[in-house]
Amino acid sequence: MSQRTLVLVKPDAVRRGLVGEIVSRLENKGLTIEEMQTRTMDGELADTHYAEHVDKPFYPPLKDFMTSGKLVALIVSGDEAITVVRSLAGATDGRKAAPGTIRGDLSLSNRENLIHASDSEDSAKREIALWFPDN
Ligand code: TYD
Ligand code: MG
Repeated sequence: MSQRTLVLVKPDAVRRGLVGEIVSRLENKGLTIEEMQTRTMDGELADTHYAEHVDKPFYPPLKDFMTSGKLVALIVSGDEAITVVRSLAGATDGRKAAPGTIRGDLSLSNRENLIHASDSEDSAKREIALWFPDN
């Protein structure tokens, strides 16, 4: 079943010049880039986007990181896109993510892990509405 999912190519990826590499991996898999925009996350957007995490101890440094520079927001579509993009991204902690995944190949951090991808149909719907209100 074709799905849409929200992807953020995070500020560490932009700083490291990995936007092309990461978007290529999505395209090479056969997924479609529906929308793609360079954005900066402000504190208010961070609190809404990461509503499930705002009370966690890792949230303050995560918020600082996510608001530290430009990121690239995308709507990505394709068959089973939500789970497919999550599996291309790999486990949250780049030190533990499997080789072959974006995080496993390119990140050595549990915070600066290059990519966000919606984790369910409900969160994809919510996050697409948040980042791309016209969609
Ligand atoms: P989470 O939703 O658990 O991971 P994922 O991005 O794989 O869905 O956490 C959101 C982000 O918070 C995660 O990408 C990186 C950051 N984070 C930390 O900085 N420290 C942590 O211990 C965890 C679990 C996440
Ligand atoms: Mg998550």
